[in-house]
Amino acid sequence: MCGVALLFFSLLVLSDAIAARKIGVNYGRLGNNLPSAYQSIEILRSMRAGSVKLYDANPEILRLLARTNIHVSIMVTNDEIISIAANQTTANKWD
Ligand SMILES: *[C@@H]1O[C@H](CO)[C@@H](O)[C@H](O)[C@H]1NC(C)=O
Repeated sequence: MCGVALLFFSLLVLSDAIAARKIGVNYGRLGNNLPSAYQSIEILRSMRAGSVKLYDANPEILRLLARTNIHVSIMVTNDEIISIAANQTTANKWD
């Protein structure tokens, strides 16, 4: 009986962990009274988010995220994407 309970609990923990890794958050920074970068990353961590999409490559946010296991996607703006896609030198200089 104890073994069954333990197995059930393990599956529950496992499925919970898998579900948490599937949470993805879009992290935009346009607005008023937004939490600081540090506070925002702490919120992502408390949500146990598995991935985050950023709308720009803010160095402070990237440094904070580098200390987490959160997967990061960084967006390129519409007016940048054509030149970045067409020119490797431009892509290398993008930040
Ligand atoms: C790519 O961009 C660089 C500067 O950003 C420029 O010097 C170079 O001519 C461009 N290359 C092409 C193939 O357009």
